Amino acid sequence: MNIEMLPKVASQALPSGKVSAGKITKIHAMEVLDSRGNPTIQTTVWAGDISAKASVPSGASTGSHEALELRDNDKKRYGGKGVLKACKNVEGKIFQAIKGLKADDQEKIDQIMIDLDGRDNKSKLGANAILSVSLATARLAANCHKMELFEYLAHKYGYMVKDLPTPLLNVINGGAHARSTGLDIQEFFLIPLGGKFSEKLRKGTEVYHVLQKNLLAKGYSTAVGDEGGFAPKLPSNEAAFTFLREAVLATGYKMDNDFHLGADVAASEFFDIKKGVYEFKADKKVFKSTQIYKMYRQWYEKYHLSIIEDGCAEDDIVGWKLLNQELGRETLIVGDDLFCTNIKRLKMGITQNLANAIIIKVNQIGTLSETMETVKLAQKNNYKIILSHRSAETCDDFIADLAAGVNAEYLKMGAPCRGERLAKYNRLLEIEELVNAK
Ligand code: PGA
Ligand code: ZN
Repeated sequence: MNIEMLPKVASQALPSGKVSAGKITKIHAMEVLDSRGNPTIQTTVWAGDISAKASVPSGASTGSHEALELRDNDKKRYGGKGVLKACKNVEGKIFQAIKGLKADDQEKIDQIMIDLDGRDNKSKLGANAILSVSLATARLAANCHKMELFEYLAHKYGYMVKDLPTPLLNVINGGAHARSTGLDIQEFFLIPLGGKFSEKLRKGTEVYHVLQKNLLAKGYSTAVGDEGGFAPKLPSNEAAFTFLREAVLATGYKMDNDFHLGADVAASEFFDIKKGVYEFKADKKVFKSTQIYKMYRQWYEKYHLSIIEDGCAEDDIVGWKLLNQELGRETLIVGDDLFCTNIKRLKMGITQNLANAIIIKVNQIGTLSETMETVKLAQKNNYKIILSHRSAETCDDFIADLAAGVNAEYLKMGAPCRGERLAKYNRLLEIEELVNAK
């Protein structure tokens, strides 16, 4: 397939009559804690007396092509996970390079930070340091323009916000997010169909509560994993799909009409690269990378599994190709670790026909501008966009505005449980009201 090229993301003129964004005058970075209790960076940027802050998330099943999260490696603090060096980079080198620039000159600010780092994976200054500034600056610009963040982002990048994305509710956690489950698959999610965002969220939440009752009734734990989904020790991956289907029906909804199911297999986590096989321990099944699509097809037919994320490992190109060829017409074949929100990886995916949808995570690449270039290229090539959180989050809700602002078709922000997940869902409820009021 040829790539529909879309070079640099062009800024749109902001609505006339709005004040122009001020110049960056001050910056402060500090260590805060994420939802796994690990340090992360929070940066505040000022333009005169207007300010905005942003904090960055962190993954557990990170792709090897992701930008680097700079950690202190000082074993005496937080087991080496401190981010004081990243904070120092923000207040020192980065501030020196961007002070005096206009807050809405996002491309320039991001480019300066990319050049200052000079490495593909941003390992010198840290992608966490860079991203905290990139996001805080965007929010500062929105504040200066007296606009809601989603509205500012939509204007800047040329979108009209009408329908909000469909929430993919990750209600059973496994894999790296809930090791005690023994489940190989990392996320089992509900895909509510029909209606507006708030209705889909309501329907999914109702099923979540029935799922809790059903699990309890059968003697399973309803403790939750990193993304707020239940973390029961089920006998097999298939048992999780069965529980979801039963919960949908018991809530009074119909499969296919009201719900489909989805999974983030996160297959890079258990691909045996030497043997070229995937071992699903919970199901006691082993598949060659050329055969794995057959199992997904069965699940598609049996459980309406219509979104398959990272069904193959990040560098198992043969497996991806076959999977997309065999199931890409009926289902979304989604690249997360495969692409890492990286435009180079996406170009490779488009030319080789590896997928038809992409996960977008701002911290995989490290700046808003690069994220937007990837989003634009994906959209130009008819890829569906799934804007996603990470397994460790703070209550920062930037990605809710971003998902709405760029017309993502889907968003993945966990179960309707845990404050850092609800912060995003609740912000989207607010955005829906704001959009409807127009
Ligand atoms: P992570 O998981 O944030 O732990 O990488 C999320 C995902 O794989 O989608
Ligand atoms: Zn994933």
